[in-house]
Amino acid sequence: MVMTSSELRRKYLDFFKKNGHEIIPSASLIPENDSSTLFISSGMQPLVPYLLGEKHPQGNRLANSQKSLRTEDIDEVGDNLHTTFFEMLGNWSLGDYFKKEQLNWIFEFLVKDLEIDPKRLYSTVFRGEEKIGVSKDEESVNILKQVFKKYKIEAKDIDFPEENGMQDGRIFYYSARKCWWSKSGTPEKMPLSEIGGPDSEIFYDLGAELKRHENSEFRDLPCHVNCDCGRFVEIGNSVFIEYKKIENGFKKLKQYNVDFGGGLERLTMVVQGKNNVFETDLFSDLIKKIEELSGKKYEENKNSFRIIVDHIRAATFIIGDVRGITPSNLGQGYIVRRLIRRAIRFGKKIGIGKDGWLKEVAEVVAINYEDVYPEIKDNLDFISAELTKEEEKFILTLEKGLKEFEKLNNVSGTDAFNLYQTYGFPIEITAELAKEKGINVNVEEFRNELEKHQELSRTASAGMFKGGLADNSEATTKLHTAAHLMLAGLRKVLGDEVYQKGSNITAERLRFDFSHKEKMTGEQLKDVENFVNGIIEKDLPVWFEEMPLEKAKEINAMGVFESKYGQNVKVYFIGKGDKNVSREICGGPHVEHTGILGKFKILKEESSSSGIRRIKAILE
Ligand code: SER
Repeated sequence: MVMTSSELRRKYLDFFKKNGHEIIPSASLIPENDSSTLFISSGMQPLVPYLLGEKHPQGNRLANSQKSLRTEDIDEVGDNLHTTFFEMLGNWSLGDYFKKEQLNWIFEFLVKDLEIDPKRLYSTVFRGEEKIGVSKDEESVNILKQVFKKYKIEAKDIDFPEENGMQDGRIFYYSARKCWWSKSGTPEKMPLSEIGGPDSEIFYDLGAELKRHENSEFRDLPCHVNCDCGRFVEIGNSVFIEYKKIENGFKKLKQYNVDFGGGLERLTMVVQGKNNVFETDLFSDLIKKIEELSGKKYEENKNSFRIIVDHIRAATFIIGDVRGITPSNLGQGYIVRRLIRRAIRFGKKIGIGKDGWLKEVAEVVAINYEDVYPEIKDNLDFISAELTKEEEKFILTLEKGLKEFEKLNNVSGTDAFNLYQTYGFPIEITAELAKEKGINVNVEEFRNELEKHQELSRTASAGMFKGGLADNSEATTKLHTAAHLMLAGLRKVLGDEVYQKGSNITAERLRFDFSHKEKMTGEQLKDVENFVNGIIEKDLPVWFEEMPLEKAKEINAMGVFESKYGQNVKVYFIGKGDKNVSREICGGPHVEHTGILGKFKILKEESSSSGIRRIKAILE
């Protein structure tokens, strides 16, 4: 009997429960107090405060299955391994156990509980990097050698597999590009105060007989576990989160953490003996549904089928989340829109002609996940309505847009922009159509056109502004609170027509766009500065309350509203009672009282676009 994905998920949680872990629920797919990604992209993300040392109410050994979404892979969907939405099985040690327990446990789980053949498993470890003062992870190598020995495997460690291939090795050293994990990637890419560390990944060998390497673009290079030919698939990653990025490198955290993550889709693929995630039970009902709707066979239309089932599943999870997001042209909403539209386009390509078919697919998702993520079934009416609305909208323009496209012999940036603007074609749809027809698209010119257009139309919404906080450092947090005070000051000095139109805050400075027609006078700028510094001097408390969106509107809280429904929002207040000077819908983080902000100074006030001014300011 083949193990189902549900059994696999259950076995993983049971295994870690048996080893002292508390099972915590999956967090929402939509990050809170964290603008670093549009969606939660790994299980550790909602746990960052606890990895930094805050006490978790459920203890220091946790495990779960986390809903995750990675949108950078959107164009890769269609191959054998990539999905946008996925579930990440994760376990964490918050300053409790470390490498030895983790590496022993995870192999025990794979080999004993999942009955994976250990001969097909390989490990990687960090080669070390002098520049950042972190040495070769020999500790993990020694542990891994013992682990493999338990399964009667003599594990040889090999350096530079990228250059010399496998050389009968079992454990391979790699650079930080492959064996260091943080939300932002390699050590150089990490912003100040982000946490991360070396990792040890586990790879599964799908087998040389598939001839993936020979048939790939890498055929002239040696094959190794991290070669992207597809022969080896990463099925788990143990990250040893012990570092925090500081000004001149890295500082050890107060506690050593383990952050393990393994994709349920890929693990299921391995235990079900497949070499493709879309052929596991996680997708079988969805594929069947698409066969029924299109009258076509998956086998003959693999790429289109994979894109459709992946994208509708992802869109269903985003819309159906407790903090659900609906299709729009902004941020997360634009991701949902792109997923839905791309699915519709491929649906059309394989001949799905029926109106309202997307909701039928969402119903299958709801049933598949009824026991694990009941919110999908609970919100199914809402999800169906949103999918159908978007389908109706796009169907109207898709046909016409395709006709327009057919007339083109190559696609200039202006053409692509016209398809985007008039027919609602996200750029990847245009790019794919062009590829199918064997013509070129000028994507760069398209982006310039888009930017120009956004500059012109950035009066009504702040959505396209690259917004939010660069990181969660103390300096950035202070400037974030200062931005709230500045908005209050601007409204006091310039009037209530002033609204925030966007913000971008780093540890060094804040940049803030707001609606106002004329250049501000020197006196007005001084008044705003004085207002902010006055509040800093008064040392007023900063706090928040959660309330329904409607109540936040009633009390005139400021805020850029995303389409949220039926959910509470967080409102940040500065000052209590009649001393209250600011209330904003905001996820935080903020300082606890204004006294610690220092001195607020406006450096520059300039035009941002028509009717929008921009201020750069700092705290000294
Ligand atoms: N955070 C790590 C990853 O995403 C392990 O969970 O790979």
